[in-house]
Amino acid sequence: MKVLVVGGGGREHALAWHLARSARVQQVYVAPGNGGTALDPMLRNVPITALDELADFAAAEKIALTVVGPEAALAAGIVDVFRARGLRIFGPTKAAAQLESSKAFAKAFMQRHGIPTALYASFTDAALAHAHVDKHGAPIVVKADGLAAGKGVVVATTAAEAHAAIDDMLGPSAPGVAREGGQARVVIEECMSGEEASFIVVCDGRHVVALASSQDHKRIGEGDSGPNTGGMGAYSPAPVVTPNVHARVMQEIIRPAVDGMAREGMPFTGFLYAGLMIDAHGQPRTVEFNCRLGDPEAQVLLMRLKSDLFELLARAADGALAEDELQWDRRIALGVVMAAAGYPGTPRTGDVVGGLPAGSDELQVFHAGSALRDGQVVTAGGRVLCVTALGDSVRIAQGKALAAVRGIRFDGAQWRNDIGQRAIGIGIGLGRH
Ligand code: AMP
Ligand code: GLY
Repeated sequence: MKVLVVGGGGREHALAWHLARSARVQQVYVAPGNGGTALDPMLRNVPITALDELADFAAAEKIALTVVGPEAALAAGIVDVFRARGLRIFGPTKAAAQLESSKAFAKAFMQRHGIPTALYASFTDAALAHAHVDKHGAPIVVKADGLAAGKGVVVATTAAEAHAAIDDMLGPSAPGVAREGGQARVVIEECMSGEEASFIVVCDGRHVVALASSQDHKRIGEGDSGPNTGGMGAYSPAPVVTPNVHARVMQEIIRPAVDGMAREGMPFTGFLYAGLMIDAHGQPRTVEFNCRLGDPEAQVLLMRLKSDLFELLARAADGALAEDELQWDRRIALGVVMAAAGYPGTPRTGDVVGGLPAGSDELQVFHAGSALRDGQVVTAGGRVLCVTALGDSVRIAQGKALAAVRGIRFDGAQWRNDIGQRAIGIGIGLGRH
């Protein structure tokens, strides 16, 4: 079988790497891929990004399954395009992808289906939004509606910060903001407290198989300081997701979401990612839904997944998912992201990357913003690599990942030495999977 992975980040490198290990898969194409997928003899990059051209390629190459990584392609309707042409693809339709692409849709959906989440109100009128902040005070959360690559959220600790965020997001040239009749929209939410975790499931429209739990580290700096990023590292499992929390998430969040989408005529096929906030009583609430795997959560999850990924995703694409438990490596996986100079602002590109170690059973370097130029790996984006290790404890996995990170060289490299620290703090071993 031939498989096509759409995307070029670390998540897609990890997906392609795992799919290539399936006994049923002969060739994995990655469109457009990155420096790491170019180096891997099992993978082949194809320089295509337009949806119609991807469908032409899948048809011409008789691709048995296309797996979509990034939200942008899903929100643009890649699954609808492929299905209309009879091509097998794993991911949500454009309508189902609204769970991520429109925060206003997601919040109203959660309210309709009784899914626990922060109280919210949604505004296109700046004066009403400002009045809402005056009434409720800080802390309060202001979100731009529409895909904003994790950067459209301000957790305001003062009312002044919230007012400034509203002005930014409802201003005339705010980036990444959904517009209705030319108008931007913001969602203003109650600020939840607790421990965050990522809970990701595979859906076929009706049936659900849960992946292992994970936790990412969104801030650029150690001790969770500085601006938000796409994610600077992750580990799996997340001890905060105890068996009890797992059961509650399935019953109170995932099942109602999947059943609700089916009832509303938009059955959800694909990875459904619930970003959770778990309070001190173990009550999980939904921060957000994503319609895809997380990045860098994918890298740590796929490092631990022992089941055949092709079988799983092909069955899900066919609406024939078996609700069996998946097989996981019992060890901890921990990934440290190495980012380019300038990230999360405009990253510098073109720095030569040296000292990349060979992959092994317990260490893989998944590439993201890298490219292969004249036989050399160079930086080509914000998050460049995710160095991912398996170990018998968080501390051991962290030590192995960081030892590899220190051997890799490129100018201006930034990484965090404290990925997984919270799990070390509260003790690992409580989690499920
Ligand atoms: P989102 O893009 O919705 O995932 O938000 C990015 C980050 O902002 C989340 O990972 C949380 O850390 C934080 N956040 C978003 N919404 C809330 C909320 N209602 N209460 C507290 N923190 C939030
Ligand atoms: N790492 C967070 C995300 O992929 O949304």
